[in-house]
Amino acid sequence: MATLHDAPILVASNRGPVSYTLGDDGGLTARRGGGGLVSGLSAIGPDAGAVWVCAALGDGDREAVRRTGGALDPADTGGQRVRMLGVPPEVYADAYNGIANSALWFVHHMLFQTPLEPSFGAEFRAQWASYEAYNRAFAEALADEAGEGAAVLVQDYHLALVPGMLRALRPDMRIGHFSHTPWAPVDYFRLLPDDIARQLLRGILGADRACFLTRRWADAFAACCDELLGGTGNTRVGVHGLGADGDFLRERAHRPDVDERMAALREQIGTDPSGAPRRTVVRVDRTELSKNIVRGLLAYRTLLAERPDWRERVVHVAFAYPSRQDLAVYRDYTERVRQLADEINTEYGTPGWTPVVLHVEDDFARSLAAYRLADVALVNPIRDGMNLVAKEVPVVSDDGCALVLSREAGAHAELAEDALSVNPYDVTETAHALHEALTMPDDERARRTKRLAAAATALPPTRWFLDQLEELRA
Ligand code: F6P
Repeated sequence: MATLHDAPILVASNRGPVSYTLGDDGGLTARRGGGGLVSGLSAIGPDAGAVWVCAALGDGDREAVRRTGGALDPADTGGQRVRMLGVPPEVYADAYNGIANSALWFVHHMLFQTPLEPSFGAEFRAQWASYEAYNRAFAEALADEAGEGAAVLVQDYHLALVPGMLRALRPDMRIGHFSHTPWAPVDYFRLLPDDIARQLLRGILGADRACFLTRRWADAFAACCDELLGGTGNTRVGVHGLGADGDFLRERAHRPDVDERMAALREQIGTDPSGAPRRTVVRVDRTELSKNIVRGLLAYRTLLAERPDWRERVVHVAFAYPSRQDLAVYRDYTERVRQLADEINTEYGTPGWTPVVLHVEDDFARSLAAYRLADVALVNPIRDGMNLVAKEVPVVSDDGCALVLSREAGAHAELAEDALSVNPYDVTETAHALHEALTMPDDERARRTKRLAAAATALPPTRWFLDQLEELRA
């Protein structure tokens, strides 16, 4: 593809700001994604000449790469220069599904069931070779696109080897790496084969700055470096919390499509025997093991079992959007969520009351509608880098929302004072917290929501992005 070799600022991430679907007629439809990186990058404006390097995720993306040579049409990207990499599908599958989402995600979120897994045999080693090739493709593309002394912000566990590879190709560049996940404690990180563990750490330490969402994850990374490499060398370890995009959310949450979905949800939720709207416990997640949706449902079932007075008076609205469905372990988990929701509805439901309203189709407007009407938000991940749902709900809530929050979410460090904290493994404690949240007096809930919203928006994505860039160039 045509490369200008001049970008002063670059971003690299597995998932880019746009993805394509291929229609039956051969036409390509571009769909722009949201998220912190998109809003962060917008802070420097389209004239800054930044380039975003990302991977082709599916057939539509690969076709777009074939037609454009990888330099996407700015009409599809909102003017953003995007270089999409057409990594061969089998290499991509091994790197993304095999290493990133079956090994690294599991390590950092502590998800392995260790009597059975992991075993790190020949298949893992073959996948690792793909992970290296995938990281190398990114490093080479970044080296091609970057102007002299350019700054690059490399994102996440998919691209842990890129900083080291890029440093070797382009010693002039300023390189930052950002982990959006937690980082595993030393003993857990050492489940990985030693050579791989060292390669991952050395990869990230190729950066000038290795950054994390909270001090806790940054300290865990530094501890792993101390143990396995004797320190972090010249790399500075930094912390940049990422907050909710308050202005965007408040505006987006009051558009007509959200109002429509609120009306439909209210209809589904219905009224209690006294005619008042039922109370709602809302959760919104990708259906992904670290989110702990199953224990959330078990806690809700415990609430209904222990406190029969809540029956007919509360509805658990659970949005569990499919994620990483190429992997059996994620598909099985999704199935378990569906089964449990059905079980609870069969056990407790009545002709006029569905205790769990579960939706699995991704719909951002409906999520915002649920945020607005939630009485309680349940955010109980086993571990989470930050968790933006915990920050978004208080920002758009109409009448105040009590937050039940896992102490293992990165967001807990910033929101603990006004949330109800839970141990995500403790279903009984979570059930009690749900009761406390549901019975919280209105004025207290409103007060807490206001403070939560202020804390949640203290570090908007634009600031998160610009702070990193400034530190890198300093
Ligand atoms: O939490 C880390 C993270 O990379 C997020 O930035 C992102 O939302 C998610 O994980 C990636 O998920 P997916 O596999 O769907 O791209």
